[in-house]
Amino acid sequence: MNTQQLKDTAKALVADDKGLLAMDESHPTCNKRFAKLGIPQTVEARRAYRELIVTTPGLGQSISGAILFDETIRQQKKDGTPFIKVLTDAGIIPGIKVDTGAKDMAGHPGEKITEGLDGLRERLKEYFQMGARFAKWRAVIAVGDGIPSRGCIEANAHALARYAALCQEASLVPIVEPEVLMDGDHTLEQCRAATEEVLRTVFNQLNSQRVLLEGMILKPNMVLPGLTCPKQESMDEVADITMKSLWRTVPAAVPGIAFLSGGQSAELASARLNTMNLRFKSRLPWALSFSFARAIQQPALEIWRGDEANVLAAQQALLHRAKCNRSARRGEYTAAMERTSA
Ligand code: 13P
Repeated sequence: MNTQQLKDTAKALVADDKGLLAMDESHPTCNKRFAKLGIPQTVEARRAYRELIVTTPGLGQSISGAILFDETIRQQKKDGTPFIKVLTDAGIIPGIKVDTGAKDMAGHPGEKITEGLDGLRERLKEYFQMGARFAKWRAVIAVGDGIPSRGCIEANAHALARYAALCQEASLVPIVEPEVLMDGDHTLEQCRAATEEVLRTVFNQLNSQRVLLEGMILKPNMVLPGLTCPKQESMDEVADITMKSLWRTVPAAVPGIAFLSGGQSAELASARLNTMNLRFKSRLPWALSFSFARAIQQPALEIWRGDEANVLAAQQALLHRAKCNRSARRGEYTAAMERTSA
């Protein structure tokens, strides 16, 4: 374990108001998104789409790191250049998703446990040799009648902490992602209570597993009402309650918090991140950043639709979202930005 390298990488991932681009959709998730737009669900289509993303000119000005999937980290551009090299040349740090997915949790109807610890030490070693410098593991926590249960929170937090310790041993910065889902009609208060309990448990477990807080990044959900909850709070209320939950639970030694987008529209995700930075940045111990998948990629994917002729327009849309989110880190994002550039 190289402590200095871990600290330096973690700092670099949140430096300069840049953020992370999650492009680590597993086959089923990527295929589902392709199917909705009539894009063929093939290895070549996934490769072509990922080539579009990593070759977007200027992406490195707003994106510090890109999270890849196992298939993608081994792929190349059409001309044979490995994606890892394309990213590194663009000043983007390559990362890798290492969990093997959230599975139904025995004895816990409606809840999931993330798997992937078996053989993880060997996989991490290989990814480091390939050039990855950080990793990601996502736990999912559903909110509803009587859930999340204590058993689900504890099991997921424990797995996250064991993953994080193994990453640091391999000199990879762990992105620790406990996602409280937006699905359902639960209230903002229910999300707040679940998020705080989850984060408190996660940091207890990280401490038990001797994870170096200065060498990790937290990737949480924003605190939001369920997607179908009749009451949808304002931007300011969401910013206030999210910050309150993070202040209560996340140690100041953590260098950065990079939100997931979780199914919010691209514009809402940018606007909410912006509101938090605008109102609170000067008082925060950690950088408040982004690690979005859908909120950066979705507009580009909808333009591309698997057609080579749309690559340039799709890249422009991708770059636009990346720039909007960089502005949101500075508290300088405005709705007018959505009208002025493609
Ligand atoms: P979304 O931003 O689409 O929620 O994805 C983030 C992510 O990486 C989920 O693991």
